Amino acid sequence: SYLGVDLGTSGLRALLVDADGAPIGSAESYYAVSNPASGWSEQDPSDWLAALDEVVAKLSSNHSAAFKALRGIGVAGHMHGATLLDDAGDVLRPCILWNDTRSEAEAAELDQTTEVRELSANIVFPGFTAPKLVWVKNNESETFEKVAKVLLPAAYLNYHLTGEYVADRSDSSGTSWLDVKQRAWSDLLLKASTMSLDQMPNLVEGSETAGVLRSELKSRWGLTGEVVVCGGAGDNAAAACGIGALREGDGFVSLGTSGVVLAARDSFNPAPDTALHTFCHAVPDQWYQMGVMLSATDSLNWLSRIMATPPADLTKALGTDLKAPGDVRFLPYLSGERTPHNDARIRGAFTGLSMNSDKEELTRAVIEGVSFGLKDSLDALKSTGAKIDALTAIGGGSASGYWLNLLATVLDVPLKIPTGREFGAALGAARLAMIAATGASPSDIVAAPETGFVMQPNSDLTAAFADAYQAFRTAYPAVKNIQ
Ligand code: XUL
Repeated sequence: SYLGVDLGTSGLRALLVDADGAPIGSAESYYAVSNPASGWSEQDPSDWLAALDEVVAKLSSNHSAAFKALRGIGVAGHMHGATLLDDAGDVLRPCILWNDTRSEAEAAELDQTTEVRELSANIVFPGFTAPKLVWVKNNESETFEKVAKVLLPAAYLNYHLTGEYVADRSDSSGTSWLDVKQRAWSDLLLKASTMSLDQMPNLVEGSETAGVLRSELKSRWGLTGEVVVCGGAGDNAAAACGIGALREGDGFVSLGTSGVVLAARDSFNPAPDTALHTFCHAVPDQWYQMGVMLSATDSLNWLSRIMATPPADLTKALGTDLKAPGDVRFLPYLSGERTPHNDARIRGAFTGLSMNSDKEELTRAVIEGVSFGLKDSLDALKSTGAKIDALTAIGGGSASGYWLNLLATVLDVPLKIPTGREFGAALGAARLAMIAATGASPSDIVAAPETGFVMQPNSDLTAAFADAYQAFRTAYPAVKNIQ
């Protein structure tokens, strides 16, 4: 069997699959995010280890025969987090997470440094790892002096599992220290934030072996055979492996807390000016690009709190037939935005409110605004030459038929809805472990899930939504100017 671990922002989920990659069982354990100051977001890495112990205990007791036959482990993690270790391998301070914006000024400065965008292939966003280290240098210099290694959350789990400092290239792409074209640490990028190569873990592809499970953990977990730990992946690359998106033409749109439109790429086509992310994929010689929207279902969750109505009830009240766009627009920038604006300070807005604006109209405006924001990302992807004939729809928001219909129409792309439940980052991570342990070819293991149905764009309304999208586009500069 193989174990895929998804080290998420709110908890850790592990999925046990059999030798053919079919799910056997899963377990979850939750932990907190601490916000010690406005815009700060941290986690204690020891909470991840406790969560791992808990899910392993559950899986080994619920599926003992399969667990005893464990041959490989893959870890996917929330991206960009800075886990700082001293020269004894001990954690120096809480991990600063992907959604922490304290290093906005440091990020802006690095982003303007010569060759940084060219080599890293991306804007240096405030959530990325490099500006966090500059912040630590500027504000916690005693800690900075002691930093012997910086590990992303998934690489920290690799270290715990194997005793080795090893990171995969997909996750490492989100540090602003990796030359994403060459798939190697860049001296110039490291120097830009006064870091050095010896503070970095060794790099492997996500589907390559990072090490083997330490004997101490093996005996604690009641295992006897050798267990391979693969490089693993950032959670978005792992999710792409979970839905079979490895090659040009494959991709997904995720209606989660944050929204993601992701396209697998056969070649390297950086476009930092579009605020797209261009990262190494978790398998050799492939890349992926994605637009990231910070508040997708979170925008609806916000409305749901204001309206004291559960999000599913808000969308259910819209019925099943897609309505033409209304007069109210919503700018979904409640937490700022990455793609396409790279604007940590912008905030949301409603425009076009009238005496007749009711709960239903505001609900439609919110999910239309989120869908338009995702179209920004899709258009940016297309501008780099990405081939996108269809996308797989995943994430909590895709449970709403109305929203799926709306999104397919706004994007003007058919959306494939998978059957079954198991196609996320944990499955992708388990698949990477299978490739590393067996030497199988990635395309033999990373298959697409069965499609339950395809949501086609509503051709009667595509033109009306294209016009409404143009109106949406004019709202951002106007709202930015009044802030
Ligand atoms: C991607 C990003 C988020 C986290 C969430 O760039 O910051 O999607 O990976 O886990």
